[in-house]
Amino acid sequence: MTTFLSGIQSSGRQHLGNYFGAIKQHIDGTATPGDHFYFIADYHALTTSRDPEELRGLVQETAITYLALGLDPEKCSLFRQTDVPEVHEIAWLLSCVTGMGLLERAHSYKDKVGNGIKPNVGLFTYPVLMAADILAYDSDVVPVGKDQIQHVEMTQDMAGYFNNTYGKHTPDGYAFVRPEYRMAASELFQKVPGVDGQKMSKSYGNSIWIFESGKKLKKAIGRVPTDSREPSEPKNPDELVLFDFLALFLEAKELEDWKERVRKGGPDAPGYGHLKMRVVEAMEEYFAPARKRREELIANPAEVEAALQRGAATARARAQMVRDRAMRACGLK
Ligand code: ADP
Ligand code: TRP
Repeated sequence: MTTFLSGIQSSGRQHLGNYFGAIKQHIDGTATPGDHFYFIADYHALTTSRDPEELRGLVQETAITYLALGLDPEKCSLFRQTDVPEVHEIAWLLSCVTGMGLLERAHSYKDKVGNGIKPNVGLFTYPVLMAADILAYDSDVVPVGKDQIQHVEMTQDMAGYFNNTYGKHTPDGYAFVRPEYRMAASELFQKVPGVDGQKMSKSYGNSIWIFESGKKLKKAIGRVPTDSREPSEPKNPDELVLFDFLALFLEAKELEDWKERVRKGGPDAPGYGHLKMRVVEAMEEYFAPARKRREELIANPAEVEAALQRGAATARARAQMVRDRAMRACGLK
C-alpha cells in the first residue's frame, strides 16, 4: 500500500499557487488507493510568525480551506503538525546524523535570508523538521510544488545517512523509508505566476487568495502586467501572463477560442480589460461551491475540529511506530 503525505505551512492565507501546485494535487490524489496524510505545518509557520492570534486563525483557516475545497477527511488523515509531537523526536535523531553543510545549501533558507528575514535556528533547521514530517509516516510519495523539491531531496539524504549508520541494527535493514516527490502534471500548475508575472508567493506580495472575489479580486487581476498594444494588433497569447490565469480556470475549448481571437487580431479581438474581466468571472465561478462550503465550515468549528482530531489519532499511531523503530535502531530504546 502506497503512503502519500504532504504538508502546507499556515503562514498566510492560501493562494492560487498553493491550490494548483499543492492542495489540488492532494485532494485529487485521495482518489488513488493508498494511505493519505495531509497536515498543516503550524510548527513551520512559527519560524516566521510573531502574532499568536494571527497564527491561531491561520491554522483554522488552512484546515477550513482544505475541507471547503473538497478534501474528504474520511479518505485521508487531515491533521495539525502540533498534534504529532513525535516528529520532534524523529527530527532530533535526524539532526544528529546530518551535516551542517546540507542545511547551508538549502535554497529556501538562502532566499529567505536574502529577502531580509533575520534567520533564527528554527528557520535554519526547518528542513530537518520537514524530513521528520515525511519520514514519520513511512511516506512513499510527497506531492509538492517545485519549490519544495530540494527539501524532499534533503529528506532522502537524511534518511540515507540514518539508514547507513543504523539500518543494520533493524530487522528489515532500514529505519526510514526513502520518499519520492511528485509534482502536478501541468507545468503551469507547478509554478503559478503572481500578479506581477513572477512566481506567486505569500512572501512576494503578488498572491491572490483562493477565495478572493468582487472588487478586491478585480483590483488584484488589474495588476497583471500588459502592454500598450491595441486590441486589433495580432499577438502571441502564450507570451501574455493573462493567458496563464485564463488557463487555470477555462475549459480547453473556450481557452483556445480566446487564444485564436488574440492571435488573429482585428475588430473582433478582445482587449486586455476584456480578458481580465473573463479571468475574474471564471475564477469566481470556479471557486463558488468551495466559497459556500467555507462559510458553512466557519459556522461549524466543531466539525472541523472533529476531522482534525480523527486525523491526528491515525497519524500519531503511525508516527509512534516509526519513532520506536528508529530509536531502537540507534540504541535509545
Ligand atoms: P509560499 O511560497 O506562498 O510561501 P508555501 O511555501 O507555503 O508557499 O508552499 C505551499 C505549497 O504550495 C508547496 O507545496 C509549494 O510548492 C506550493 N506552491 C507555492 N507557491 C506556488 C506556485 N506559485 N505555484 C505552484 N505551487 C506553489
Ligand atoms: N515546507 C512546506 C511549505 O512551505 C510545508 C511542509 C512542512 C511540508 N513539512 C512538510 C510539505 C512535509 C511536504 C512534506 O508549505
